[in-house]
Amino acid sequence: MSDSNRAWHFVERPDGEPTSDCFELRETESPTPRFGELLVRVHYLSVDPYMRGRMRDSASYAEPWQLGDILQGGVVGEVVESEHDAYESGDLVAGRGTWSEYSVLDGDDATPVDPDVAGLPAYLGVLGMPGRTAYFGLLEVGEPRPGDTVVVSGAAGAVGSTVGQIASQNGCRVVGVAGTDEKTAWLTDDLGFDAAINYETTDDYRAALDDVAPDGVDVYFDNVGGPITDAVFTKLNLDARVAVCGQIAHYNDEEVPMGPRKLPLLIASRAKVEGLLVSDYATRFDVAREQLEAWVGSGAIEHRETVVEGLENAPDAFLGLFSGDNIGKQVVRVAE
Ligand SMILES: NC(=O)c1ccc[n+]([C@@H]2O[C@H](COP(=O)([O-])OP(=O)(O)OC[C@H]3O[C@@H](n4cnc5c(N)ncnc54)[C@H](OP(=O)(O)O)[C@@H]3O)[C@@H](O)[C@H]2O)c1
Repeated sequence: MSDSNRAWHFVERPDGEPTSDCFELRETESPTPRFGELLVRVHYLSVDPYMRGRMRDSASYAEPWQLGDILQGGVVGEVVESEHDAYESGDLVAGRGTWSEYSVLDGDDATPVDPDVAGLPAYLGVLGMPGRTAYFGLLEVGEPRPGDTVVVSGAAGAVGSTVGQIASQNGCRVVGVAGTDEKTAWLTDDLGFDAAINYETTDDYRAALDDVAPDGVDVYFDNVGGPITDAVFTKLNLDARVAVCGQIAHYNDEEVPMGPRKLPLLIASRAKVEGLLVSDYATRFDVAREQLEAWVGSGAIEHRETVVEGLENAPDAFLGLFSGDNIGKQVVRVAE
């Protein structure tokens, strides 16, 4: 094991869209695990849209990063030193770590990784936090029923691609909204979505929804917000459910944009609109993990990861989330 460690630090709060100036790669000493902790050689790290909220100096559901902090996020890697009874050197684990070559993980919070089920990056995507978000968000907030029409925005991303496939498993008609033809083709040709809309080449979202969801929308899983969401609200059926998972279209806004207000539509539809936070389901993560591993292992759910090579490119991988560079889960390969 090396004594040195390269780690990305958060050095500047963005004003609007983040840039590479927000990050600095520094050489530090390798951390030392304390009782209950694991020192892990990071193989892959996760970049996620919610991290944009942590760059603000104001309360959000995730604690703000302070200037100078090492950036935090999901990692998967190999234990090189264990101070926790359940793990030993050589074990593969996933957990909450840092954007660095070596990272200390809380052993109680870490989960074992089984490379026979899926490759390591899947444990940051479909078998990690995004997969659990899809699982609980759709099933518990969206409450899909056979025959429902389910619309998913951000459909070709880590959460959305899993949501659509779980909805299909539940006998729903699934429509995805994503930003390129390559993404919409992946949804319909490979993942079994019934239809998909490329919002970048569609001027009239409402007319597009009329075509692909002629019976209206029973469940809307919203990862995005903005005009796509405005259009879906006009199509909500009686007693529809809207699961508000993310609003990435607004994460770089300094002020909340004021558009036409769509709430009157909820009176006619009596729709339920509910925010969700994956950590609220923490006591049942093992249930989701077991089911998702079974689906992935049997091929019932497909997954894809976009891999950026090298720790030095982690900020680019993060920034690419806001320009739609990823298909499926965006990860960074730090080591073999
Ligand atoms: N509530 C929770 O507990 C929870 C947990 C995990 C994630 N989330 C949220 O769920 C959403 C999806 O997360 P993820 O990890 O699966 O990310 P992701 O979908 O894998 O990556 C982000 C995607 O968002 C799309 N996007 C970016 N800017 C956009 C814009 N202005 N308008 C429309 N689409 C835009 C891009 O795809 P296109 O090419 O399609 O534009 C991009 O690939 C995010 O909003 C995230 O914050 C919430």
